[in-house]
Amino acid sequence: MQSPSPSSFKVNYIEDYSPPVWLTPKAHIRFDLDTENTIVRTEYEVCLNSDQNGKSLPPLFLNGEGLEFLSLRVDGAICDPGAYQISKEGLTLSDPPRNQFQLVVENKISPKRNTGLEGLYQSNSMLCTQNEPEGFRKITYSVDRPDNMIRFSVSLVGDKEYFPILLSNGNHIETKEIHGGKQEVIWEDPFPKPTYLFAIVAGDLAEIRSTYTTLSGREIVLKIFVDKGNQDKTEFAMYSLKEAMRWDEETFGLEYDLDLYMIVAVDDFNMGAMENKGLNLFNSKLVLADKKSATDETFESILGVVAHEYFHNYTGNRVTLRNWFNLTLKEGLTVFRDQWFTEDKTDPAVKRIKDVTLLMDHQFPEDAGPMSHPIVPKSYVEMNNFYTVTVYEKGAEVIRMLSVILGREGFKKGLKNYLNRYDGQGVTYEEFIHSMEEANQLELPMFRNWYDRKGTPNIEVSEDWNENTGTYSLEFTDTDKTNLPLLFPIPIALFDADGTVLKEELFIAKGFKSEINWDGFLQKPIASVFRNFSAPVKVKFDRSREDIVFLAKQEKDGFSRFFALQEVIKQCFESSLEGKEITKMPEVLQVIENTLSDRKNLAKDYLSYLLSFPSIGNLAESLQVFDYEIIEKNRNLWLATIADRFVTNFQEIYEENRISLPTQTRTEIGKRRLQNTSLYYLFHSKNSLNRLGGLALQKQRDAKHMSEELSIVRLLSEMNHELKAESFAMFYEKWKSEPLVLDYWFAAQVGFGTEALETVRRLKDHEKFNWSNPNRVRSLIGSFARNPLSFHKADGSGYRFLGESIEKLNSINPQIAANLTKLFQNAWLQTGQRPTIAAEVLENLLKIPQLSREVTEIVTTIRKGWGL
Ligand code: TRP
Ligand code: ZN
Repeated sequence: MQSPSPSSFKVNYIEDYSPPVWLTPKAHIRFDLDTENTIVRTEYEVCLNSDQNGKSLPPLFLNGEGLEFLSLRVDGAICDPGAYQISKEGLTLSDPPRNQFQLVVENKISPKRNTGLEGLYQSNSMLCTQNEPEGFRKITYSVDRPDNMIRFSVSLVGDKEYFPILLSNGNHIETKEIHGGKQEVIWEDPFPKPTYLFAIVAGDLAEIRSTYTTLSGREIVLKIFVDKGNQDKTEFAMYSLKEAMRWDEETFGLEYDLDLYMIVAVDDFNMGAMENKGLNLFNSKLVLADKKSATDETFESILGVVAHEYFHNYTGNRVTLRNWFNLTLKEGLTVFRDQWFTEDKTDPAVKRIKDVTLLMDHQFPEDAGPMSHPIVPKSYVEMNNFYTVTVYEKGAEVIRMLSVILGREGFKKGLKNYLNRYDGQGVTYEEFIHSMEEANQLELPMFRNWYDRKGTPNIEVSEDWNENTGTYSLEFTDTDKTNLPLLFPIPIALFDADGTVLKEELFIAKGFKSEINWDGFLQKPIASVFRNFSAPVKVKFDRSREDIVFLAKQEKDGFSRFFALQEVIKQCFESSLEGKEITKMPEVLQVIENTLSDRKNLAKDYLSYLLSFPSIGNLAESLQVFDYEIIEKNRNLWLATIADRFVTNFQEIYEENRISLPTQTRTEIGKRRLQNTSLYYLFHSKNSLNRLGGLALQKQRDAKHMSEELSIVRLLSEMNHELKAESFAMFYEKWKSEPLVLDYWFAAQVGFGTEALETVRRLKDHEKFNWSNPNRVRSLIGSFARNPLSFHKADGSGYRFLGESIEKLNSINPQIAANLTKLFQNAWLQTGQRPTIAAEVLENLLKIPQLSREVTEIVTTIRKGWGL
């Protein structure tokens, strides 16, 4: 994102970085816990970062926001008010006594009034913290930046009845009974860490305990804490944790470094989960699951996110960040590690399809719009706004390119080198790339430009075939020659007409134009390039449709076969938008027929992806056509054509997969997906629609797994079927007391169709809707705004509704409000009055008197990107 300088909010620039003047290498914090009034007493060892020989000592600044200051002591003596100043941003001690001293500061906070869910806050009856990136300053005064590494000890004092469980990072030292029904629990973390990794939890929670023995034979105690009553929904999370621990040992030789690992499930949580040292905090939707109440997608998210947070223990915690601009150093790398883990544990092609689809549907638009930024942003106003798909997902693609260039073994060597060299330090992406180069004894200078260049590169591919010499060549051109030159890997396969692989080669493209050629061919080979999506670029390969159809049938790389098939569909779809008759485009039916006849050779899960038709959003983004109603109309035509043509096959597939066991194995997950895919087509076939409704409701009633149950609800909703209301009512009756399942219910009602505005207006007043719970807001308001047919209504009513919601959330939870504001990013591409109305809604947001830093930055950035 560009750095606007909105009103009075300060902009942080990467080139202004300088190391901290003062450090606080040790801290002891005592919390007197109370939901209304918590007293925090923090004792620091303060020291000067570098020798200031003879010169007078610089002032000490401690960040602090929204704190009620109580007292300050320096070296034991209480400071008089003239010795320090307190502002909205923090506390300044003008004349520190010497280059090393002790400081004790006391302040008061109110967890209950903290609805922004950053700092110390209350969720149900639990107190917990969220400090990344800059939440610690909402708990106590501190040098709140990731290059200030602290050894923490913590004393938690609280009422035994309300807070029998008191947790913090590291090792439990002791528990003491104290007068008045209270207890004191002491924790100590032997590893120095920045403030953002600090955490505490207090509550009356159920504990699920297990153990894990490392490859070297150490026993680690694993604990998951949940609200009482949810104990039987933690098995899969515990399993995921153990799998992740084993995988990191086997893959990278990384063994967990404390004797205790804790996960706490929290109902009110701004994001997915948080990697606090030894004490991960999780959005409860990413911990709690059983087959009755969680979908296959939720199970897989749990596997991935539990692993992600666990992997941060090395990539993030042991080696951390020098500054927030380098967020992708830990996030891109850790996402890549969790992707790799899930590829190993499930089906690599399927996982890759999901990850690339996410990138194309969400990151490509972000990078093409007003909020485009490099994976290392050059400036920010509110760091919370930079936890983006670009920093995370594109960042992971950049790391993946290294693993393709260096090979997995070379990558492992490089990562080990990085972790050894920089253990206990805060570093930047430069140290990471340097470690990779050093361990592999090569240099990748242009590769660094991936960290500074924003926007998705457009790569044009052209082929040349010389019949006389038998020479075949490929040329790759980066079309934006004014931008930074890049280096990227291109795995290539050349096929003959029978599908035999003639050549497999890893080509490394450097700069704006690169060429590779081969000779000795009798016939023109067919090339597959960027196999397995080897670089986060848009590829334009000017070649015959015939060649793409060939790859959709013959490519051995599972991802690239899927991608070619989708390409066939998209090209034909585009022609249909331009008025060409569907019946005149046999290629789509041909590749689907081929997939259907090949289906016994394909894993069920993978097959379901090959058979899926691109979503409205995916089509709009790929074809850069943003008239969603026209896309929907054509898409329905295509679906009906395919369904009618293959109705018997889809009936067969449905019958073959109708009965699945409610377990999380590839086969059973694949069966459930195939039930869903085949029903989806059958519902679009003109012939079978009416008969199917009754069958669907019966299936919803009999479902043994949430994936089966919910897919019916969604299907009836998407089809706007006459039984839709009955389906929703039945689902509600069954699940009204399960909050995580109700989130699916809210989302499914507004996620499809052109009439969701009325529904969202009604449901926001539903007794189960709650503006303070981020999961609920995302499921209702977020799903509405991600439904293009309703959000982008021609009269602007969708935009106005989102504007009202943002205003409401601005005062409750600015982070959630800002994330919703980002959904305006592509309104400018729309036709008619839409852009004007979107601009007006954003302008009105700027008039809100207490508009948060979070929302202000997003609104300003979007408006600026639109040239306003
Ligand atoms: N570091 C977390 C992760 O990706 C993400 C995170 C950042 C977060 N800020 C947060 C999580 C606020 C919850 C709340 O693993
Ligand atoms: Zn992360």
